[in-house]
Amino acid sequence: MKHILPSQPGPIGVFDSGYGGLTILSQFREILPQNDFIYLGDNARTPYGTRSFEIVYEFTLQAVTRLFELGCHLVILACNTASAKALRSIQINDLPRLDPDRRVLGVIRPTVECIGDITRSRHVGILATAGTIKSESYVMEIRKLFPEIKVTGQACPMWVPLVEYNEAQSPGADYFVQKYIDELLTRDDQIDTVVLGCTHYPLLLGKIKQYMPEGIHIVSQGELVAHSLRDYLNRHPEMSARCTRGGQCKYFTTEAEEKFADSASAFLKETIQVSHLDLND
Ligand code: DGL
Repeated sequence: MKHILPSQPGPIGVFDSGYGGLTILSQFREILPQNDFIYLGDNARTPYGTRSFEIVYEFTLQAVTRLFELGCHLVILACNTASAKALRSIQINDLPRLDPDRRVLGVIRPTVECIGDITRSRHVGILATAGTIKSESYVMEIRKLFPEIKVTGQACPMWVPLVEYNEAQSPGADYFVQKYIDELLTRDDQIDTVVLGCTHYPLLLGKIKQYMPEGIHIVSQGELVAHSLRDYLNRHPEMSARCTRGGQCKYFTTEAEEKFADSASAFLKETIQVSHLDLND
C-alpha cells in the first residue's frame, strides 16, 4: 500500500474486468440513488475468464487496493470471475493487512440465494466464463444452500469478447449465442432456470432470449445483487455511515478514456466522463 488510506467516508467501489459490471452498477444506482459510486473497468486486461487463478487474483487485488486508495470503504466485485477466483483470498489474506474495517463483496452468493425460489424442476444451468465454470464456485455455493439441485455449467468463452469488441448486436453474435445455449440444454434437458453467471451477459440479453426455449427462466444478476447490497447496508449501519451520499458516479478505465466513454455511455444512456488509471504502477 503506497499511501495511507483515507479514513473519511467515500463512494462504493464497483469493479469489473471491463464493461460487464455496468449491468450491476446501473441497478445499484437505481436501487440506491443517493449513494456515490466509483466504477473501475480493467478493459486493458480483459477478458479475465480465460486467465489463471493467480493472475485474476493479482489483477483483482490491484484493483481493490486502488479503489481503497480512492476512498472506498466498500468494494463490490461486479465480476463473477473475480468473485470466483479472488474474493475469498482477498477477504481472508489481504483485508486484515490492508484495512480490517474495509469490506469486499462478490456477486455469486447473492445470486445463488435466489435460485431455490425460482427453479421448479430443480435442474439449473449456469452460463459463465471458462474461469468461473472451472472454479466450480456456483456448484459449491448451490450445493451448500440447495443440495437437491442439479447444476450444469457451460463455459461461453466467446461472449465476453463479443461485448468488449462491441459486436453484441452483430449477426455474427447469433452463432455463438445459440451454440452455447444448445450445448447446455443438450447436456440436461430438464433445466428450467439458467443463470447468466457473468456480468457481461445481460448485454447480450436480446439474443440470449431469442435462442432460449420458452419457459426457461433467465436469471440476470443486476437486480438481485443490488437488493442484496441494500440489505447489507441496512444490516451494517457502521458501513453505511462510511459510504457518501451525493448521487454521483465516477468512472475509471485502464484502457483509453474515449473508447470506454463511447461504449459505456451507449449502454447507460447518459454521457459520462471517464478517467484513465494504470493499475500496474
Ligand atoms: N464480467 C466478468 C464476469 O462476470 C468477467 C468476464 C471476463 O473478463 O472474462 O465473469
